[in-house]
Amino acid sequence: MSQASPNKVRLAIVGCGNMGSSHVENITKNIETATIAAVCDTNPEKLQQAVEKSNGSAKPFSNHHDLLKSDACEAVIVATPHYGHTTIGIDAFKAGKHVLVEKPISVHKADCERLIAAHTDKKLVFAAMFNQRTDPHYKTLKKMLDAGELGELVRVSWIITNWFRTQNYYDGGGWRATWAGEGGGVLSNQCPHQLDLMQWLFGMPTKVMAFCGLGIRHNIEVEDQVTAYLEYANGATGTFITSTGEAPGTNRLEVVGEMGKVVIERGKFTFTRNEMSAIEFLKTSDKAFASPKTEVVDIPIDGNGGQHREVLANYVDAIRNGTPLIAPAAEGIHSVELGNAMVYSSMTGKPVVMPLDAAAYEKKLKELIANSTFVKKAAPVAAGVTDLSGSF
Ligand SMILES: NC(=O)c1ccc[n+]([C@@H]2O[C@H](COP(=O)([O-])OP(=O)(O)OC[C@H]3O[C@@H](n4cnc5c(N)ncnc54)[C@H](O)[C@@H]3O)[C@@H](O)[C@H]2O)c1
Repeated sequence: MSQASPNKVRLAIVGCGNMGSSHVENITKNIETATIAAVCDTNPEKLQQAVEKSNGSAKPFSNHHDLLKSDACEAVIVATPHYGHTTIGIDAFKAGKHVLVEKPISVHKADCERLIAAHTDKKLVFAAMFNQRTDPHYKTLKKMLDAGELGELVRVSWIITNWFRTQNYYDGGGWRATWAGEGGGVLSNQCPHQLDLMQWLFGMPTKVMAFCGLGIRHNIEVEDQVTAYLEYANGATGTFITSTGEAPGTNRLEVVGEMGKVVIERGKFTFTRNEMSAIEFLKTSDKAFASPKTEVVDIPIDGNGGQHREVLANYVDAIRNGTPLIAPAAEGIHSVELGNAMVYSSMTGKPVVMPLDAAAYEKKLKELIANSTFVKKAAPVAAGVTDLSGSF
């Protein structure tokens, strides 16, 4: 970690679209220990809007090479389309800058490995925008799991189908939902948050089998619905169901351990506690149809945490004071590997025994890009600023 600095951290945002411009605004308004010293976008209009959002503090750059050659910033935030996270992240490390990349840290596992390998100077901070790690529901669950309150993991089920997106969403933003532009669909764009939480909370599965529907509800070539089955080393199982074509959607995480069950849904955190271990009970009970006595505890939890603002502030604190990161970017490889394994399993019709073969997946992705015949229809451009309130 770098030395504590009394001065404001000079940040540059690379990619000033929906997310990047929101970061410009968030930092300008809320983070006193940093300044938006530079903004970079290949689209002149987005660049100009970002300068305005920084209240004029930012120097504009039309490409990241010029930005990185300059002395305008000491740290970058990469919020370009996903493929750029790897290339721009690597270039930023070569230029000696601290790096925060948006999720997913890269499109596929081999690119994650390349990006992580470029972080050779450990004095440079390398963070990822996994803002949902700040949500107190998941933080509480993590504490319970780490303290062993649920005992051995038995089953995890996450239904995360409230990522509804319209055809208009996919038609706008030329890079979205193509193999060449985005490298995937719901697993690459919306679900990195939940896939990261899955690995953060439960570790990595040993086997992944999945069924991904490509363009089932939308005119796109990538996956817009997924049902996955996971197996963990101790025999625990998991299911992960997602879609961008289902409304009303669901966001329900159900975690069963030997000592009880946690359900997180609609902002409520319910723990149904077993009086004794269910694993022990089933082995030792002298009755055929008995089950452990339970107690239902609603754990009161307020709000959703600091989200992007908290991760941005944490990045700045890590640069200034060496504060531990909420989401070290190297951990971002796991969510990418999970998503890639789901797509690979679906395409090969076979379970993936983890770890995923990164080279095999990259080859498959290149084939998908080479064989793509999909032609994108441009969406009518909506007037004004994109409303992100239904996102994240
Ligand atoms: N953490 C979150 O909650 C969250 C939410 C939305 C998006 N994101 C992530 O942010 C990234 C961007 O998504 P978005 O919705 O803002 O997309 P967007 O299309 O609105 O913005 C991307 C911007 O990057 C610019 N750009 C493209 N290539 C560039 C390059 N080489 N150099 C500089 N600028 C370049 C584009 O001109 C555009 O303005 C994605 O990786 C996405 O997954 C994260």
